[in-house]
Amino acid sequence: MSAGKARVDAAAMRVALVTGSARGLGQEFAVALAGAGHAVVGLDIADQVETRDLLRAAGGRFLGLTVDVTDEAAVAEAVRTAVDRFGALHIVVNNAGVYPPIEFEKTTLADWHRVMRLNLDGPFLVTRAALPHLRAAGWGRIVNIVSAVVFLGPPELVAYTTSKAGLVGFTRSLATAVGGDGITVNAIAPGLLDTATAAATTGADGGFERVRALQAVPRTGRADDLVSTLLYVCAEGSGFLTGQTINVDGGSARH
Ligand SMILES: NC(=O)c1ccc[n+]([C@@H]2O[C@H](COP(=O)([O-])OP(=O)(O)OC[C@H]3O[C@@H](n4cnc5c(N)ncnc54)[C@H](O)[C@@H]3O)[C@@H](O)[C@H]2O)c1
Repeated sequence: MSAGKARVDAAAMRVALVTGSARGLGQEFAVALAGAGHAVVGLDIADQVETRDLLRAAGGRFLGLTVDVTDEAAVAEAVRTAVDRFGALHIVVNNAGVYPPIEFEKTTLADWHRVMRLNLDGPFLVTRAALPHLRAAGWGRIVNIVSAVVFLGPPELVAYTTSKAGLVGFTRSLATAVGGDGITVNAIAPGLLDTATAAATTGADGGFERVRALQAVPRTGRADDLVSTLLYVCAEGSGFLTGQTINVDGGSARH
């Protein structure tokens, strides 16, 4: 083994925070990051017993905190608890999000705010609270989960598409703000994937079939289709990759 390889391996144990880790993509990300040797802190409003059991069975280190990511004080406390427990924080995956299909004219201001609050306020609050710790470490990876809808613009998801396009802007601008501190900021834009929430909403009533027909890869995507991209973005060697939106959607939008 070369000296360079040994140095990379020694630096590879990181502390990652994942939002929305109780199920779906967030749970998949938590398991993947633990599998890569990182300690994982999961933030969710829902019970995380399943995620905890999955990670522990795989020998991973996991701390599940019951937190609403739109609650400023609760987020700040959760980040403090995470750092107290694991001594540092390096990776933030802003995954918790909501994607209700609503006809545009029937969208109430309350619907609009609910989507913006979770999909934009959440990443803002979590990232702002975490950032001093990433700066202190001199190394960081911030990953924002957006959606291929930012390229496709489906008619029933105007609020959602707007929120995720906002998160793309957040990704680009923040990348510039923190690029000098060894911190990268990237977005992953999944296509429609077969999570329980997607199956009950955007994938229902032929939704999976309609999206599949747009794809170059003719099958419905799964949560584990994102894992290699997440680990690539978070890798030690990916420090020159920042401000990007990586589309993982079976080729429905040729971006
Ligand atoms: N599933 C897809 O097809 C798909 C496609 C593109 C993008 N995405 C994005 O991926 C992310 C995850 O999608 P999913 O299908 O796994 O969703 P999901 O509904 O299965 O999981 C979302 C998680 O977020 C948690 N959560 C909700 N509100 C919260 C809050 N206020 N604070 C903390 N946690 C909260 C939920 O309890 C849940 O565990 C979302 O941002 C979504 O927009 C999903």
